Amino acid sequence: MPDLTNLETHAHDVLVIGAGGAGLRAAIEAKAFGADVGLVCKSLLGKAHTVMAEGGVAAALGHVAPEDTWQVHFRDTMVGGKYLGNPRMAELHAKEAPDRVRELEAWGAVFDRTPDGRILQRPFGGHSYSRLAHVGDRTGLEMIRTLQDRAVALGIQVYMECTITQLISGADGVRGGFGYWRTTGRPVAFAAKAIVLATGGTGRAYEVTSNSWEYSGDGQALAYEAGAELIDMEFVQFHPTGMVWPPGVRGLLVTEAVRGEGGILRNAKGERFMWKYLPDERRAEYAETDEEAARWVTALSQGHETDARRPPELSTRDNVARAIYTEVKEGRGTQHGGVFLDISYLPAETVRRKLPSMYEQFKELADVDITRGPMEVGPTTHYAMGGIRVGAETGATTVPGLFAAGEVAAGLHGANRLGGNSLSDLLVFGARAGAAAARQASSKDAQPYLDPVQLQGANGALAAPLERPEGEDPYAIQRDLQEMMQRLVGIFRVEADLDEAIRQLAELRRRWQVVKATGGRAYNPGWNLVFELGNSLTVSEAIARSARQRTESRGAHSRLDYPASDDATWNGLNSVVTRAADGTMSVSATPLPQMSDELRSLLGGEH
Ligand code: FUM
Repeated sequence: MPDLTNLETHAHDVLVIGAGGAGLRAAIEAKAFGADVGLVCKSLLGKAHTVMAEGGVAAALGHVAPEDTWQVHFRDTMVGGKYLGNPRMAELHAKEAPDRVRELEAWGAVFDRTPDGRILQRPFGGHSYSRLAHVGDRTGLEMIRTLQDRAVALGIQVYMECTITQLISGADGVRGGFGYWRTTGRPVAFAAKAIVLATGGTGRAYEVTSNSWEYSGDGQALAYEAGAELIDMEFVQFHPTGMVWPPGVRGLLVTEAVRGEGGILRNAKGERFMWKYLPDERRAEYAETDEEAARWVTALSQGHETDARRPPELSTRDNVARAIYTEVKEGRGTQHGGVFLDISYLPAETVRRKLPSMYEQFKELADVDITRGPMEVGPTTHYAMGGIRVGAETGATTVPGLFAAGEVAAGLHGANRLGGNSLSDLLVFGARAGAAAARQASSKDAQPYLDPVQLQGANGALAAPLERPEGEDPYAIQRDLQEMMQRLVGIFRVEADLDEAIRQLAELRRRWQVVKATGGRAYNPGWNLVFELGNSLTVSEAIARSARQRTESRGAHSRLDYPASDDATWNGLNSVVTRAADGTMSVSATPLPQMSDELRSLLGGEH
């Protein structure tokens, strides 16, 4: 084990961990507030799940539908989240998203345009109006490009290919982080007066996912280990449409923009099945016939008003994912275990212009021309509604000096996220967390401190998997974890499965504690996986225990043994996960923050 005598250390006012949209936006804001900022990412800058929000960023700009306002966006977000979102976060998000989008435009993002030159907006599931500002189907990519250019231009110090394995705490909160360079394996430490976690989601705990290798719940686990609370962990978003074929790309995202532009879902018998799955209380919002849905699509593509209602495919993601899963389970799926998504009835030129990435993705990866025939799609693990508990105004966690923003944080989306709200979330709350961290760093009590005892402990944990004479292969444990989470903690859940998942997670943890990595320290993917796997195990346990506790179905959490929402017991209660003094995980419930009368009236006074 390398000794720490000459440990490489860096010091910053604000350390941002994670360089996707939220991390970049936080870093930019902290810098604007005068802080000296360090930005650490375990991958290359620009490689972020933000790019997988393809179809657009939700903001009530009112360019296509002038009647859209922050109040309607607030309501849609709360209703889509089954009234479990933090109302103040939903209010701030809806009010500030338009300014954050316009600011991106001023920084160089090139959005698609209306005929009169304003930012074009498209419909998405659960949004009452055409609300998603977009760049074809590459919106997240354009956002990352813009934010990255700005961060680099501002001179923010970026540390790439660096994994943080432990937060270092002082007497009153976090003071820094310990980690290593993935390129050399050498340890490195960062002292900071405030830290922003922006490491994204947890999708790699599942077998079928749109998330790439980075999304192992690192920030959630770091925060939990440092004493922060996690909330809403049972709410895992299964995006309805991922690729199902060929096997090597199973789970890769097929943007909701395909349905936003008129894509129709059919089962293998050719039935347009979404009509069957519309919830009774929302049915009136959707077209009643193919003809009415077709009139809506025509009006959309020609940019004129219509009294036709939207197609059933634009139901919320939780509902569409369950519908597809059910069709396949009941034997009406395609040869490769999916359903068909068809946009080929639109002019080929329109499809290629509106959905250029989807066109290329299917052509290159599946040899399917989506202007001529349907895509085969099925649900894919996409997003964590749950995460670190934060304050609405600042992104402050329950640990002093520690902030969080973007997918790693929770609260805005409640039990189900609307498409496009992730990009606006990361802009609004990334900026807020960056500002708050910079303010914290400027207070005189904030002193960076790297406790040598904690550094030694973290250094020992880093070396251990390489030094064990024998032990389990991390890839075998990861495979078992992903297979188990997919099977027992997936779209539909029951108590016996969740109990079994919790039991198996304890066993997987025991195996992980004696894991062995072979080879040296430089560029060693097996050794890197050990730490990611430890984080995946932590978040998986939080997901399974929270799902076990919530004895109802709500949003993305569907219990076959409790198929209805139980408002008498569960309405307005978030699950909370904490680490007990003996290191065990405990789950409880806490009431949602109070809602102002103004916000309550926007929800019809009911919640
Ligand atoms: O379908 C999509 O384009 C994904 C968007 C999102 O997750 O917000």
